[in-house]
Amino acid sequence: MIGRKTMGQASPILLIMLALGFFFATYDLLTMIFHHGSFGKWVAINSDGVLSFDPIIEMPENMRKRRNVKSLFHVAVTATDATYNKWQCRIMYYWYKKQTNLPESEMGAFTRILHSGNPDNLMDEIPTVVVDPLPAGMDRGYIVLNRPWAFVQWLEKATIEEEYILMAEPDHIFIKPLPNLARGGHPTAFPFFYIKPDQHEKILRKFYPEEKGPVKNIDPIGNSPVIIKKDLLEKIAPTWMNVSLRMKYDPEADQTFGWVLEMYGYAVASALHGVQHFLREDFMLQPPRDWGIGKRFILHYTYGCDYNFKGELTYGQIGEWRFDKRLFLRGLPPRNLSLPPPGVPESVVTLVKMVNEATANIPNWDTQ
Ligand SMILES: *[C@@H]1O[C@H](CO)[C@@H](O)[C@H](O)[C@H]1NC(C)=O
Ligand SMILES: *[C@@H]1O[C@H](CO)[C@@H](O)[C@H](O)[C@H]1NC(C)=O
Repeated sequence: MIGRKTMGQASPILLIMLALGFFFATYDLLTMIFHHGSFGKWVAINSDGVLSFDPIIEMPENMRKRRNVKSLFHVAVTATDATYNKWQCRIMYYWYKKQTNLPESEMGAFTRILHSGNPDNLMDEIPTVVVDPLPAGMDRGYIVLNRPWAFVQWLEKATIEEEYILMAEPDHIFIKPLPNLARGGHPTAFPFFYIKPDQHEKILRKFYPEEKGPVKNIDPIGNSPVIIKKDLLEKIAPTWMNVSLRMKYDPEADQTFGWVLEMYGYAVASALHGVQHFLREDFMLQPPRDWGIGKRFILHYTYGCDYNFKGELTYGQIGEWRFDKRLFLRGLPPRNLSLPPPGVPESVVTLVKMVNEATANIPNWDTQ
């Protein structure tokens, strides 16, 4: 598989030469490099600063293509019919609709994959496909095990126009129009600092046997956010379900991985298929860990944000001002939440403003 890991093996000087070749793009220089190099491939740095490989012959055409033709991805979010999931999906869909029409966007259609088995009252508001939950008791109380099963069913029954799929979650807000971050068949993922395959070699070997390769082939990721080709996901999803269930039923893996077990499930399943992901930090930001917005695309409000009135983070203590999605487990966030006190980072202010904008504009926010 060509991926970021094989790049490390190429000589840095050759990479720099090839990259310079891209920028000056003089035909003679290229011909010279190809005559002298043993590479049958092009190495280039695209506009996002990501190294990519293209077969030599396709290069000029590809350069034009990247500028003019959109490579759309379908936005898919898995969810239940719980109030807690519903209000998050409504906010997410509001921001999807707003960003998808902007020129930089390569977002295609949107689907909420509803894995509680029955239609709910948002069927008219959000494009939805209903799939079955796992048989009762099979998830052993760990509801996110339904995610891989939901993707397996959806990929089987839905007609998906786009070649790529973004796997998203209800607590994602598109803060910018999202381009297709996948490159030349290779999926792109956000690296999570707490997914550390190299620290769990013994457990992971039960699911990723030695003959498959080194444990470092397992990416430090979960299934979301990931932009991936549909045909690759069709291969990975059944394995992801299988591996996650086996991990859940393995007491050692269950205890060690806890609430991130299903993330390890996806990381291992994709490695089993020889798929590696480009890792992009700018895919997502997570307040209050990340303070600024920078060039990031998705805001993930997974952590509680607690501050005192001086605008200082209170680290796990309940703050005088707070926003935490878990405050709204059973009821909706009201419209017009109070903004954080001065001094609170841009990421948190943006989160509250974007939630407020969505709830102000979604019809029947508090009567649905
Ligand atoms: C799931 O794993 C079992 C072995 O534990 C295997 O027999 C089965 O074929 C696997 N199914 C899929 C869809 O990978
Ligand atoms: C939102 O609340 C603030 C006070 O926190 C108030 O000044 C403002 O008028 C409210 N806006 C709307 C649209 O209700």
